[in-house]
Amino acid sequence: MSSVRYAVFGHPVSHSLSPRIHAAFARQTGVSLAYTAIDAAPHEFVGALDRFVGEGGKGANVTLPLKEAAFAICARTSERARRAGAVNTLSWNDGQWHGDNTDGAGLVRDLTGRNGLDLRGRRALMLGAGGAARGVAPALLDAGVSELIVVNRTPERADALIDAMGEPERALSRYWQDLGEIGDFGLIVNATSAARGGGEDFDLPFTLTTPRTLAVDLNYGEAAIPFLAWARAAGCRDAVDGLGMLVEQAAEAFEAWHGARPDSDAVYAALRGKDALLVTAD
Ligand SMILES: NC(=O)c1ccc[n+]([C@@H]2O[C@H](COP(=O)([O-])OP(=O)(O)OC[C@H]3O[C@@H](n4cnc5c(N)ncnc54)[C@H](OP(=O)(O)O)[C@@H]3O)[C@@H](O)[C@H]2O)c1
Repeated sequence: MSSVRYAVFGHPVSHSLSPRIHAAFARQTGVSLAYTAIDAAPHEFVGALDRFVGEGGKGANVTLPLKEAAFAICARTSERARRAGAVNTLSWNDGQWHGDNTDGAGLVRDLTGRNGLDLRGRRALMLGAGGAARGVAPALLDAGVSELIVVNRTPERADALIDAMGEPERALSRYWQDLGEIGDFGLIVNATSAARGGGEDFDLPFTLTTPRTLAVDLNYGEAAIPFLAWARAAGCRDAVDGLGMLVEQAAEAFEAWHGARPDSDAVYAALRGKDALLVTAD
């Protein structure tokens, strides 16, 4: 069987785990593929995708900061990608890009399946309104959270995300400076990249939590340490990082491309065991 090309595009992307995850899925399922990481700044993205297709590219994952740009170049999109306004999985079909977003399904599968947590009826707070938050927000609403409040450093992006959800009764934006006055939450999701690369951190009030709060960081490895440490210090019952979501969103993409469902638990266990402290995030 000849190899066809797949890749993850991002900026930066060199330390992405996606090539390892997709290679492991391919070994499990007997699929032959070449999957690489391609660094493309936003202004280089369209040109890099064109070259990739010219070299036999059939599918791509897209990570920060390119998910909203990926949505814009698609001729067709899945319903969940349209709700998100962001694409993390591209498939080249009939000379066109088809876009999907597997981030939200990946997160919910990790939380409810792997971690056995029930999201229904939880009041949810999401920090961040970038490409990952856009994928996760509709999936949390579908999973039955009672309310979703989105807070972002740049408030206009939180407003745009909430407008896209179209559920003004249940999904609302608030200002970051009001975090001390918006009550407590059963679910708090950190969908920011604030802690990546040793960047500046942010302070969160403990009043956001209760002893039953589930705190989720979409980051993993070193980038998840500050938020999960805050959650433990606040007394949150559960604190989950983004490694399981990463593996699950990859499994969804792999199945869409190759028609075979990989054993994501085996790959998750191998990554968790091998790298007690993963140093990069996707
Ligand atoms: N586990 C997984 O499978 C998975 C999947 C996707 C993403 N992720 C992780 O999720 C994070 C977000 O990814 P993304 O694709 O959404 O990135 P993105 O589109 O670049 O968005 C970044 C978000 O972080 C916020 N932010 C950045 N620095 C901040 C700071 N110092 N203080 C407060 N907010 C800050 C941004 O706010 P502004 O709008 O104000 O700039 C924006 O909301 C990344 O770290 C990524 O690694 C994990």
